[in-house]
Amino acid sequence: MCGIVGYVGNRDACPILLKGLHRLEYRGYDSAGVAMVNGDGALNVYKCKGKVDDLEHFLDGKDLCGSIGIAHTRWATHGVPNDANAHPHYSESENIALIHNGIIENFRVLKDALIENGYTFRSSTDSEVLVNLIEYIRTTENCTLLEAVQQALKQVVGAYAIAVIEKGNHDEIIAARQSSPMVVGIGKGEYFLSSDATSIIEYTENFVYVNDGEVAVINRNAPLKVFTLDNEEERIHIQKLKLSISQLEKGGFPHFMLKEIYEQPHTLVDCIRGRINPETGEVKLSGVIDNREKFVNAKRIIFVACGTSWHASLIGEHLIENICRIPVEVEYASEFRYRNPIIRPDDIVIAVSQSGETADTLAAVELARKAGAFVYGICNVVGSSIARATDSGSYIHVGPEIGVASTKAFTGQVTVMAMLALAIGHEKGTVNKEYYQEISQALLKLPETLEDVLKIDAQVEDLAKIFTYAHNFIYLGRGYNYPTALEGALKLKEISYIHAEGYPAAEMKHGPIALIDAEMPVVSIATPDHTYEKSASNIEEVKSRGGKIIAVVAREDEQVRKRADYVIEVPVITDCLMPIVVSIPLQLLAYYIAVNKGRNVDQPRNLAKSVTVE
Ligand code: G6P
Repeated sequence: MCGIVGYVGNRDACPILLKGLHRLEYRGYDSAGVAMVNGDGALNVYKCKGKVDDLEHFLDGKDLCGSIGIAHTRWATHGVPNDANAHPHYSESENIALIHNGIIENFRVLKDALIENGYTFRSSTDSEVLVNLIEYIRTTENCTLLEAVQQALKQVVGAYAIAVIEKGNHDEIIAARQSSPMVVGIGKGEYFLSSDATSIIEYTENFVYVNDGEVAVINRNAPLKVFTLDNEEERIHIQKLKLSISQLEKGGFPHFMLKEIYEQPHTLVDCIRGRINPETGEVKLSGVIDNREKFVNAKRIIFVACGTSWHASLIGEHLIENICRIPVEVEYASEFRYRNPIIRPDDIVIAVSQSGETADTLAAVELARKAGAFVYGICNVVGSSIARATDSGSYIHVGPEIGVASTKAFTGQVTVMAMLALAIGHEKGTVNKEYYQEISQALLKLPETLEDVLKIDAQVEDLAKIFTYAHNFIYLGRGYNYPTALEGALKLKEISYIHAEGYPAAEMKHGPIALIDAEMPVVSIATPDHTYEKSASNIEEVKSRGGKIIAVVAREDEQVRKRADYVIEVPVITDCLMPIVVSIPLQLLAYYIAVNKGRNVDQPRNLAKSVTVE
């Protein structure tokens, strides 16, 4: 939620800030702004409602001089999206400007105290309270900006990544973090600041991740320094990160989402590389090798996740229970963290998160660690907060996912979970050789299978035309494909704004069947597995009530296609990996319906890619 970016060096700050904002727009896009100190020391803030493109138009003709600046793209938490609530926020005297990602939970108490001291407010944000608190401390205590920030943050309860600059100071940005991501990129005589290293990857490979409770002093004339709120200097660790810029661009596709759907055959190659021996089919995950005893002796595995990652975790539950015979629970991280859950030292908690920054998942990780559980991460973003907060883990390695609707991360997560289940099952001796080989060989062939699945694109595009104006959708699946149905429905509602529900097919008769009529498209997943016959009967139940059946079936299917109104054919691989195959046409269906409706596919309304507020 919200993207922050900063620059101090010898170049013009504005183009770097705007490019960074474009790359961070996936984090929020309801308003945007920049603040820069120009050569005369003037502190200029420009901001407006809308996207970064709108900001660029707004900047026409303004004084954009300055080689130091901060910028922000917002996802509203306190205060509606409008010009006043956009960041950066000036302090009362307009001497300090601040950008903030996160939530100041005790903002009301702080604001009342500031009002008593004569402060007025131009916005309804919690962030403006913080900039005024910093200014209040700076003036009343006659201290440095760094000291004022440290003291102010000691009074703050909540989550933040902030950056502040000050009138008359061309050299220095003060930045701080608590529970919201922040990284400093180190160039030659210049520094970059961002919520996400990928937004500044074209300028440097050297990054310092700011940790919770730390304040960074980013001064163009000095080495980077990091302090605690008590002004203890911390050691900094420079990390290398390499990424190709092409991974951050659309590469000829009209939307990032379509590009990312099409990338899946390749991203799964990266996900599997070095983990499955192509000769022997043997699966090796370093996280399991290094922690063999923990996995072998685990009494229970608890997945914690949100959104699409939660759906992938439901598939992980099937995989691990089936292959490793370890009881598994899947929890919404937001519920888990507030439920006083029972966590034992012989539990393994697996946190699943594409971004590695989701606030609730991060909090669940911290809770599990405090309770003494071994915590494993399945993340995409290297060096992200969850990746760093977990004891061990496996990256999914699918590259930056920019479209807000998650696609390649989902298939990467399920792929890692399948490898994890095989690796643990092998160590525990709970999986027989044939089934192990069947799954590992199918994993090795996944890239080629997905190339094959993608051939259905044009057919799904045609199907989407028929259903673009439906008001509701139901997605049904069973077994491994029940979570696929949930994920298919989520994709559609996220980007087309059509109401869609995913349901376990048999459960439909306990309620949702009342919704079925001739207007109701029902996407039924009925690929071959031990639930196939049951799924066929469930389709019958819908059909006899007039529902329109779009059946996802095997190419060689004979039975279900006779009852379906429309058929989406997919190649068949081992049952536990079918969610990866089936999710591709469901992603395409959601995509084309959203495009037909003229939706902003990559930046759907009200959503953000990385949810760093709870
Ligand atoms: C947001 C995104 C979803 C994502 C969820 C969890 O809601 O829009 O696409 O599934 O967060 O994100 P994570 O990064 O933890 O997987």
